Amino acid sequence: MTSISTQDYTIHFNETGYKALNEHLKAVRYSKVFILADENTNMDCVPFVLGNIDTEIEYDILEIEPGEEQKNLDICLGLWETLSEYGADRKSVIINIGGGVITDLGGFVASTYKRGIPFINIPTSLLAMVDASIGGKTGVDLGHLKNQIGVINTPELIVVDTSFLATLPQLEMRSGLAEMLKHGLIFDEDYWNRLQDLSASTLADLDGLIYESIIIKKNIVAQDPTEQGVRKTLNYGHTIGHAIESYFLEHSEYKRLLHGEAIAIGMIMETYLSIKYLDFSAEEGKKIKSVFKSIYGHVTILDSDQAPIIELLKYDKKNEHGNINFVLLEAIGKPKVNCIVDNNSIIEAFEFYN
Ligand code: GLY
Repeated sequence: MTSISTQDYTIHFNETGYKALNEHLKAVRYSKVFILADENTNMDCVPFVLGNIDTEIEYDILEIEPGEEQKNLDICLGLWETLSEYGADRKSVIINIGGGVITDLGGFVASTYKRGIPFINIPTSLLAMVDASIGGKTGVDLGHLKNQIGVINTPELIVVDTSFLATLPQLEMRSGLAEMLKHGLIFDEDYWNRLQDLSASTLADLDGLIYESIIIKKNIVAQDPTEQGVRKTLNYGHTIGHAIESYFLEHSEYKRLLHGEAIAIGMIMETYLSIKYLDFSAEEGKKIKSVFKSIYGHVTILDSDQAPIIELLKYDKKNEHGNINFVLLEAIGKPKVNCIVDNNSIIEAFEFYN
């Protein structure tokens, strides 16, 4: 797979990725390398990456526990203190090896330590490969509210090694697939159609589909890196999806929802709003619902959950002047940003989901 260049950095793939990483490490001569991983990726992925790194530079591994619950300022504080204690200076680099939690958190820790040190992303989950590690969004949650604290800052380079997916749990694969389906819905109907049935796909087909998703995301981000307009389209399904994800995180008695599972619900509900507000085809909308339900099943959301979930929408990062701004679809591949909807319609969208 040919490397993909953005304005600020390049995304490299598989063996070429390690070659580019080695050339980069040789050229920049960092004072020290810090590898950030969680318990799982430290065990399953870090040894493989280290086996492919050819450098004399001293390195330390910073390990955190896995899970979205770790994406908070307390963990950042611990990491900043460790970096300081281990003598990280502005010529040090952090290599983030993990899923979206690691690339979001590690990018933020690097971007704020000593007013910013470089970082490199090696995403190991499908979600991080096609979304989280690309585009420079870094940050952490505030309590259960998703990604409220953070900065946009780009990595030095990204190495996407799709061989890590061979050991990724099925639920995590499904979670990442939701972002790929989103890329189809907002940008490319043909891509959306091809993603719906992966049963006959080979690993090589999957590599190609991942590559297409990264190109879609990269092209959207290139037009609007700081999310003033078109980049908001990448939040399709996320306005309601993030609120549902936060609500389920807050209620530990509920089934744990992965990010992709929550935004799959968000995409079904925001498709309903698209039908209601933008004349999106009702027939196409039903098809979208059945595609998501066939992949993600049905999650019980009680009537009593609806009001608190709607309440959480006020924390969405796209809100402006007190308005909740939705991304809706006029048609597949034709998104519209800054759409305002009323609360009754959101209740109807829950009914549509149920
Ligand atoms: N995950 C959406 C974005 O990067 O804009």
